[in-house]
Formats: sequence, structure tokens, C-alpha cells
Amino acid sequence: MTGLVPTLSSRISWRLNLLHKTTQYVTIRAFKALRIPSRPVLPPLSSAFPLNSSPPRLVSSYSNKSAAVQMQNPLSSDDNLVILGIETSCDDTAAAVVRSSGEILSQVVSSQADLLARYGGVAPKMAEQAHAQVIDQVVQEALDKAQLTEKDLTAVAVTIGPGLSLCLRVGVQKARKIAGRLNLPIVGVHHMEAHALVARLVEKKLQFPFLALLISGGHNLLVLARDLGHYIQLGTTVDDAIGEAYDKTAKWLGLDMRRSGGPAIEELAHEGDAEAVKFRVPMKQHKDCNFSYAGLKNQVRLEIEAQNINAEIPISSASSEDRGARANIAASFQRVAVLHLEEKCQRAIEWALKIEPSVKYLVASGGVASNKFVRSRLNQVVERNALQLLCPPPSLCTDNGVMIAWTGVEHFRVGRYDPPPPANEPEDAQLDLRPRWPLGEEYAEGRSDARSMRKARIHPSLTSLIQASLLGQPKPTV
Ligand code: KG4
Ligand code: ZN
Repeated sequence: MTGLVPTLSSRISWRLNLLHKTTQYVTIRAFKALRIPSRPVLPPLSSAFPLNSSPPRLVSSYSNKSAAVQMQNPLSSDDNLVILGIETSCDDTAAAVVRSSGEILSQVVSSQADLLARYGGVAPKMAEQAHAQVIDQVVQEALDKAQLTEKDLTAVAVTIGPGLSLCLRVGVQKARKIAGRLNLPIVGVHHMEAHALVARLVEKKLQFPFLALLISGGHNLLVLARDLGHYIQLGTTVDDAIGEAYDKTAKWLGLDMRRSGGPAIEELAHEGDAEAVKFRVPMKQHKDCNFSYAGLKNQVRLEIEAQNINAEIPISSASSEDRGARANIAASFQRVAVLHLEEKCQRAIEWALKIEPSVKYLVASGGVASNKFVRSRLNQVVERNALQLLCPPPSLCTDNGVMIAWTGVEHFRVGRYDPPPPANEPEDAQLDLRPRWPLGEEYAEGRSDARSMRKARIHPSLTSLIQASLLGQPKPTV
């Protein structure tokens, strides 16, 4: 994989970009002529395919510089696509129907909040069962609410990674069943790319390149989005993500976890003094864009123990003194957790502008980006740097089907999809699921000694797969 790390200042990466855009143009022209082409004109990610089937080949290339310019507006192409998106990578079962114009025709989310509250985290086997119980109903409701007949659908998009493989499988099987029955193409979607790209549905003027901070329960990413499918990872977490730290803090403080821990901490923090407990800001000495929340989580746990706070007593039954102490910890935790984001975002902005001086936006997305304190602090950072902050509304920040459908639209428009699966595919067909799937290659300056990420069984990044396929090279292997 290291051989695929892009050398950012090299001419090669510029040429890759140009090739990418010009081939997009050909795809769209070809697609207009044939509403659902019998085969893709660009190689798909070979995503939702069973592993034993062979991916379609690149059958077209084009090199006219003016064509690249025509692709600058992401919505200049066919606006009549209608895509069903399905998401089951973690603890929410979600489906939505979206038009390529950006119109959201329906959105349905069934959350496993009760399970989360009971276990204080996601238990894969139980999460899988919960997805399997509701998936049919969630998808049907999304189709009903969209008031479409099945023949109005253009394609089905589904999350294939990263996430829990047991959970991913439920969504992918459902997507393939529908696509097989209706003879629809299928788009395999990267969950974190979807968190970033949904900002382009919300804000039509958001063009590449842009910087994205993606903050959720399992991920903490700073990426430079150079183009569709072309991402440079400036930073990631060396251990836990910020959402995990919010969730555990909420659990240890005895908060009501039914809406997940983040919103509960955000609410309680309003009552507390953010200076009351002096938690240390993580990774101060690391001059990179990586994150670490395991140490802060530990500091919070020790403080809760030191103050004899009993999580068995729910916050609703706590004395006012006890409640005040918990609120102080919530506020102090939140202040430091977000300070860590601010510091790394400041550096990432500097790096991003060095690589792509035309960057104008920082997109903040993922569940934690629905937090108002997070948004207001990030806003100060971007304003200091003369950039703008773009956060999707909370319902599009937390896991949802709209972001998957929209990412399906973006990739479908450039021809990255798989042909319809067979109508009678066996239940036990081996599927290409990508539980550990980076979005892009690491920026060379961003490698940190503090990194402790396990590298085993990591799938080649989305970016390396797309770049290799555009060059007609064999796909990188795991
Ligand atoms: O993106 P998301 O819905 O799912 C994952 O992909 O993980 O993010 C879920 C995370 C949870 O950790 C949840 O506590 C956190 O987002 N979250 C929040 C808020 N709303 C959700 N964290 C802080 N403040 C919030 N308002
Ligand atoms: Zn997510």
C-alpha cells in the first residue's frame, strides 16, 4: 500500500486528476444516450460484487482538455436519476430515496438506541439481528414515502464499508435483492466518503477541492477531498474517535443514552463549568493532524472515580450537588475534546492550503458535527483562516440513507457502478464487504510516531482503487 501513496507535488497526481475528469465527461455523454447502460463505461469499484465475479473493464478513454472544464459543476449532468440508498454499517438501519437534482424524496432511520442504552456500545451480533429485523420495513417505508413506483428507480446504492461486517452484510444483501429483482445497477459506497459528500447535496456551490473533518463514533478523519474518489488523509485517530469518548463519558456519568451519548453530554454541559476540571489536551507535542481520545477518556474515568460519582444512579435521580459535579465533568470534557479538534483542524487547514491553495471550505460531518458547541468552535477556526465552515443539518450528519443515495448519485454519474446482480442470487453468495477500508492514502508529512493503528486486513483505499482503475492498472490487493 505504501507504494500507492501519492506524491502530492508531483506532476503525476495532476495528470491523474485530468484523466479522471475527462473520462467523467465521456461517461456522462454515454449515459445520456442509454438511460441504463448494459455495462458501465468506467470501471466500478467492483464493490457490491460477489468476490468470484470478474469486474468490468475500462472500455473508454478520452483526452480533451476542454472536456475537463465542463465537469466543474457537479450538477451539470443528468438530473433525473433516482437512487435508493441503504445504510447498515453500524447501529442505524437507514434508507432514503434521492434525486440527482438533490431533492430528498424520502428518509427513514431506525436506530438501535435501546440496545445502545442497554449495552453502552454496539454489540455486533445483536446489531446484526436488529438490522435484519427492520431492514425490509425501513426500505419499504423509504420507497412508499418517496411515492415512486419501482420502475422509477435508476440504481441502488449501499454502504460496503468501513463498518461491522455482520451489519454491512444485511444492507448489501437487501440492496442486491432489490437490484436483482428490478434489474438495477448497484453502487458500493464508502461510508466516510458519504459523510463528506452529503455536504455537496446540501450546498450546491461546494466544489472540489475542499477539506473535511469527519467525526463519528468510530472515525476521526481529516481529509483533503481533491476530487470525487480522490482523497488525501491528513490525519486520523491513533486510538479512539471523539464520538466514542462522548459515549463513554455519558455512560460513566449515568446519562440517558437513548439518543446516544453525544447529545446527552452536549445538553448537560450547558449546566456545567467548562474550567472546573483541568483535563489535558491530547497530543500537544505531536505536530501532525492525528487525533487521540483514549487518554482523555481515561482522564475522565479517573475523575469520575475520584469524585465518587455513581453511574448506577441515573442523572434524573441525582441530587443537585451530584448533578452539578457531573455537569462540570461533561462541560470540561467537551471543552478539551473540542480543543483537540480545533488544534488539529488549524494545522490541517495550513497543510491543505499548501497542497491546494484554492480550498475555500471546511466540511464538518459525522454524528459529532451535529453538536452546536463543536460547530461554533470550528467556525472560529475557519474564520481565522478566511475559510467557510459547512455542516450538513444534524439529520444528515448522523448516519442516514440520504448520504449513501447521494454518493451513489455522484459515482453513478461518472459511471462507477456494478451491473445488476442476478435475480436469483443465493443467500450465501460471498460478498465483497470492506470492514476496514481507508478513504485515501496518508499524507507523507502526516505520519506520526504515535500511530498505533493496526494495519492487518486493511483493504486498499478507495482512492487507490479508483486511481488504479483509471490508469487501467491491476487493482491493488489487500
Ligand atoms: O456518524 P454517526 O451517526 O455514526 C457513526 O458512523 O459512528 O456518529 C455517531 C456518534 C456517536 O458517538 C454519538 O454520540 C455522536 O456521534 N453524536 C454526538 C452528537 N450527536 C451524535 N456527539 C456529540 N454531540 C452531539 N450532539
Ligand atoms: Zn457514520
